[in-house]
Amino acid sequence: MLIQTPEQMRDLGIALSEQLRLGDVIVLKGGLGAGKTALAAGIGKGLGIDGVSSPTFIIARVHKAEVRLIHIDAYRLLLSGSKGFEFDDLDIASSKDGAITLIEWGESLVSRLSDEYLIIDISFGKGENDRELNATGIGPRWAGFSL
Ligand SMILES: Nc1ncnc2c1ncn2[C@@H]1O[C@H](COP(=O)(O)OP(=O)(O)O)[C@@H](O)[C@H]1O
Ligand SMILES: [Mg+2]
Repeated sequence: MLIQTPEQMRDLGIALSEQLRLGDVIVLKGGLGAGKTALAAGIGKGLGIDGVSSPTFIIARVHKAEVRLIHIDAYRLLLSGSKGFEFDDLDIASSKDGAITLIEWGESLVSRLSDEYLIIDISFGKGENDRELNATGIGPRWAGFSL
């Protein structure tokens, strides 16, 4: 799917949020500035949560609204060469069933958390603001899912 403005990315996040259920785990994949956090902010908005942003010093933030949103940015964990134990220490596994979990830079870590997840891959398109999104679902939860 082609997204051409930050507003479209937010609106996609809002629409996507309506399809999400507790226990869902979504990996947001893509380079720096691709729009992973922008999409996460749209999903948050759809869940009634303002202020989903890039956590600068912390790795995971839990937003408590009607639906709990766990937003993780694993970039620094990856930079540090972590084998994943620090990620395990965040202990997302014990709270994920009561929340919706979004993980930026989480491709190599997500299987430690769940065997069912959706990967949304955001790549840069031709125009400065063009983004191409592709979703790949792993596990029965995501069978037949498309953006
Ligand atoms: N179509 C688009 N969708 C999302 N963000 C876009 C788009 N076009 C331009 N941008 C800009 O790209 C940047 C994306 O930043 P961010 O969401 O923090 O990226 P990431 O989390 O992937 O590093 C923002 O500055 C945003 O305004
Ligand atoms: Mg980000």
